[in-house]
Amino acid sequence: MKSIKVFAPATVANVSCGYDVLGFAVHTPGDEVVMHLNDSKQVSLDVIEGDEGRLPRNPLQNTVSAVVINYLKHLGVEQGVSIELYKKMPFGSGLGSSSASAVAGLVGINELMGGRLSREELLPFAMEGERLACGNAHADNVAPALLGGLVLIRSYHPLDVVKLPVPEGLSCALLYPHVEIPTKEARRILKDRIHISDAVTQWGNVAGLVAGFCTGNLDLIGRSMEDVIIEPVRAMLIPYFYDMREIAIAHGALGFSISGSGPSVFALCKGEETARRVAKALENKLSSNGIGVNTYVSSINTDGPKVTALTAASH
Ligand code: HSE
Repeated sequence: MKSIKVFAPATVANVSCGYDVLGFAVHTPGDEVVMHLNDSKQVSLDVIEGDEGRLPRNPLQNTVSAVVINYLKHLGVEQGVSIELYKKMPFGSGLGSSSASAVAGLVGINELMGGRLSREELLPFAMEGERLACGNAHADNVAPALLGGLVLIRSYHPLDVVKLPVPEGLSCALLYPHVEIPTKEARRILKDRIHISDAVTQWGNVAGLVAGFCTGNLDLIGRSMEDVIIEPVRAMLIPYFYDMREIAIAHGALGFSISGSGPSVFALCKGEETARRVAKALENKLSSNGIGVNTYVSSINTDGPKVTALTAASH
């Protein structure tokens, strides 16, 4: 029977001021899913590694199997599939861990079923995976994980997703301080009303950020990485957040903010060398204060998910 192995990348959602509407993919970390078709007519979740036993084992409750079940239901196909999930990134981290798993599963099953849906058509299935994982079907992790690059969710109703150009030479320092902030909680603490003056600042920045990406103006990108609505609320949950911003800017970062709902933080930089310098300085700040940290440096991943092995049926 046919088998496939797919890698799907971590993502930086919000990109500072674009809460729920902007996100980009990185090259590392990410998740890997292996799938084997079989004759059982059931979707089973047979292996989960790298989660310390914390993710649901029930196929209806785990994002990767749940999205595969919905996809097959949509096609009206009773196909047996055995799924293996290899978590290669932390979860509850703000790096889009549930998205990476769901996207790897969807790309895998779609490929095994002959590529019946386009990547864009897979997006609503991946969004339902997010609803299962955190109670809200936001697309700013799953869209870049699935489509690669930097993605704007122009509208949710109807869904309108725009892939934006990514300037050459942009590099991202990404750090996961070892404190856990569940997305559900990080969304619950947000205010549901905002001042019009904050809204004006925010939409100026979102427009500036998009303009910066479209024109390759890195300084404009940096100036626009200011979030006056969401970040001030969530920053309190992240150790040394404002110290880290100062350090990042002092070491040459264009801008610094929270990755997704945190606690991960990211800095966009001109060139990999600067990103490495910034990452090192931030890592030192955290570890010298007794906080464990995972550090990644990556350019923006414009390819998205990757099929790393495909085995045809042997008769
Ligand atoms: N836009 C979402 C949020 C991303 O900030 O809650 C979650 O990773």
